[in-house]
Amino acid sequence: MTRRPTPEDRFSFGLWTVGWEARDQFGDASRPPLDPVESVHRLADLGAWGVTFHDDDVIPFGSSDAERDRILGRFRKALDDTGIVVEMVTTNTFSHPIFKDGAFTSNNREVRRYGLRKVIRNVDLAAELGAETFVMWGGREGAEYDGAKDVNAALNRYREGIDTVAAYIKDRGYDMRIAIEPKPNEPRGDILLPTVGHALAFIAELEHGDIVGVNPEVGHEQMAALNYTTGIAQALWAEKLFHIDLNGQRSIKYDQDLAFGHGDLLSAFFTVDLVENGFVGGGPRYDGPRHFDYKPSRTEDMEGVWVSAAANMSTYLLLKERAIAYRADPAVQAAFEASKVLELSQPTLSEGETLADLLANPAAYEEFDVEAVAEAGYAFVALNQLGVEHALGGR
Ligand code: GCO
Ligand code: MN
Ligand code: MN
Repeated sequence: MTRRPTPEDRFSFGLWTVGWEARDQFGDASRPPLDPVESVHRLADLGAWGVTFHDDDVIPFGSSDAERDRILGRFRKALDDTGIVVEMVTTNTFSHPIFKDGAFTSNNREVRRYGLRKVIRNVDLAAELGAETFVMWGGREGAEYDGAKDVNAALNRYREGIDTVAAYIKDRGYDMRIAIEPKPNEPRGDILLPTVGHALAFIAELEHGDIVGVNPEVGHEQMAALNYTTGIAQALWAEKLFHIDLNGQRSIKYDQDLAFGHGDLLSAFFTVDLVENGFVGGGPRYDGPRHFDYKPSRTEDMEGVWVSAAANMSTYLLLKERAIAYRADPAVQAAFEASKVLELSQPTLSEGETLADLLANPAAYEEFDVEAVAEAGYAFVALNQLGVEHALGGR
């Protein structure tokens, strides 16, 4: 790899990423199980800063309390030995068949109560390990058939579940926020809260929405043909971008979870530009971890797993260099000016000006030269070409 990270870059990985045995719908595992302790050491050697995990990634489902304590003891030692932090924890409410109709929105009330217990137990573990973000990806919260789910009731139960967890976090005084991860489909035919926009609208209906935000994943927005950079931009605007899942996706198809930049590379450039440089005209910034949620392809052996982990970070660092050069280039600043990108930060009404003033102003309407202004171009292609040239290292 051409770029090697340091912990200051704050790169983190889900243990389920490198640990994926590559079992899919059509084929058996193509790699052996990976000990989470080994993953922590290998990721530290590669220059990562943190890890994240589902409860079941570290503690197999159904472990006894004694077994759980033993496993966590070993895991904590690996964290201490390497300095790797646990920045986020999430709960597996999708693998075991008990969750085949979801957890918080299962039609079966006993399953919902069991799911809530599993999540709360995991919130305590997350707090013990110092995680500041608790991700909730409702992979099984959905349906294949429109008649199978009363969506009004399901959203009420979803709200009840998330508000209950958020209230618990507050009651315990944990320094932790919840981040909902949207996804349009897979494993369910349709998943509730399918996009960033749906999730933001849902959060606005929560009682404890002040500590609930989103964790958008590149591929999940792109599976729905949406623009990831625009999605995280709106989450930032709403001050709800609590966490990000970086990976790659090539168009509308199954969730590929490719390495970051291995899908839409130009989109990845503008994502890094936004994360590292912020909005062109200023505004809220993302200061959370740079978290990768990808899957080493099934074709890769164990060596390929570590190569692919390093690839995510190297690509991110390369794009960061390009994005910094892009913003620093006087030609780009001039292009922003020519395209009036900065003019968008000016309020439409001047300070103190009222709508009545605007209505009484002939320069704004009666005398406004509509044809002349309509004729002028915005030179967006020239601006975008500068982005492409910077992304390709051509400037
Ligand atoms: C996916 C999802 C999951 C979640 C993770 C957190 O690819 O469908 O990204 O990997 O992020 O399970 O709960
Ligand atoms: Mn995914
Ligand atoms: Mn994810």
